[in-house]
Amino acid sequence: MSDLKYRGVDMCAPEAHDDPWEMYEYLRENDPIYWDEHNELWYAFRYDDIVDISRNPVDFCSTEGNRPYIPPDPSMLHQDGAQHTKQRGLVAKGFTPRAMRESEAYCENIVDELIAAFADHGEADIVEEFAALLPAMLIAKMLGVPSEKSSTLRRWIRVMVPGGQGPHYVTDEVNDAFGEFCEHHEEMVTERADNPTDADLLLKWMHAEIDGERLDEDQLLFEHALLLAGGVETTRNAIAGGMEMLAKDPEQWAYLRANVDDDAVIEAALEEMIRWVTPFANMFRTATRDVEIRGRKIKEGQMIGLMYPSANRDPRVFKDPFRFEVRRSPRAEKHIAFGFGTHFCLGANLARLELRTALRALLRRFETVALKPGGRQEWASSSFTRGPMHMDLVFG
Ligand code: HEM
Repeated sequence: MSDLKYRGVDMCAPEAHDDPWEMYEYLRENDPIYWDEHNELWYAFRYDDIVDISRNPVDFCSTEGNRPYIPPDPSMLHQDGAQHTKQRGLVAKGFTPRAMRESEAYCENIVDELIAAFADHGEADIVEEFAALLPAMLIAKMLGVPSEKSSTLRRWIRVMVPGGQGPHYVTDEVNDAFGEFCEHHEEMVTERADNPTDADLLLKWMHAEIDGERLDEDQLLFEHALLLAGGVETTRNAIAGGMEMLAKDPEQWAYLRANVDDDAVIEAALEEMIRWVTPFANMFRTATRDVEIRGRKIKEGQMIGLMYPSANRDPRVFKDPFRFEVRRSPRAEKHIAFGFGTHFCLGANLARLELRTALRALLRRFETVALKPGGRQEWASSSFTRGPMHMDLVFG
């Protein structure tokens, strides 16, 4: 409290998170419920505090939105209680184990196609040539969007997501991209209303019913946007950031190659890739009454950011947390990159399917992987998402 070391940092500014580990570690240990006086926002840095807040939607709600000072939309992400349960249930009808199984073969085909395009060349920007394409192409297929349009989806997402950093970041460009997405959504809904034959996600949502209720027009639009905004960049970043670490550690690559058919080994590796990257830097909650945590008084109506990357490096939970270690036990050391509690990521199994398929195919195809000397290995600057922009790798 009396500690002023990081006082006045603008936590919404992307550059505050460019190389944040010293600051996160310091605040986690010395000022774990931190007051960002620049933006008048609270931030939680410890694993246990973030879990406690996430499991308490009565005191810390999502209904005021989960980005700083950006008003809530009608998607499930901004509902709590019975309304959240119902809306999540309606959307989840497109995420059944059967739907996941149906996506598996398609996911494998995309992965094979993408690898074939760079394999002979022996090198790739793993972001642009692989990790960014897979989630966009897969979700396009699930939504019934022609695959040529997946690059347009990617452009909208790339432009819209930075708007989540705060109101200053919601530029005209962000609004225009959202406008274009809305038009695209309208077209898709009209097409499906006229020709309700394809069993894609959007059509399933249009007809899904719980207790005789369906998603209304606005809910449908914002669930659709949520899926794109939440599911594409995150998965891209976990794949590319995880590959960066494997490229730096030939021993771990060799270990995974030797055990590529062992499900438990691969599951542990992909959880470590997700923990390491932690693609969302934070989500926010709003206090519904005055609450005290660790002596700090959070007032009703104030927002608090849940700093997942800091939690996922908390030494109280993770042994040697700054070491990337695919042999880490994901049960004993459970990351919270997918959030925690009722809003736990609905797409977690889809993300895992993509990571598993990608990792296995890359391991089977290439004996070695390394950072390309003199290549671009750059991470994006953001206070909301985390992951590489470019990651030039060489494959042997
Ligand atoms: C590695 C990849 C991913 C990460 C790290 C991730 C992370 C998260 C996090 C942290 C939340 C919780 C938000 C909160 O508590 O406020 C969340 C929710 C959500 N995610 Fe993901 N996500 C990923 C992939 C996906 C994918 C592939 C999809 C679907 C295509 C998806 C769809 C959703 C949805 C619909 C929610 C809202 C759940 C609810 O409010 O009940 N995510 N995700």
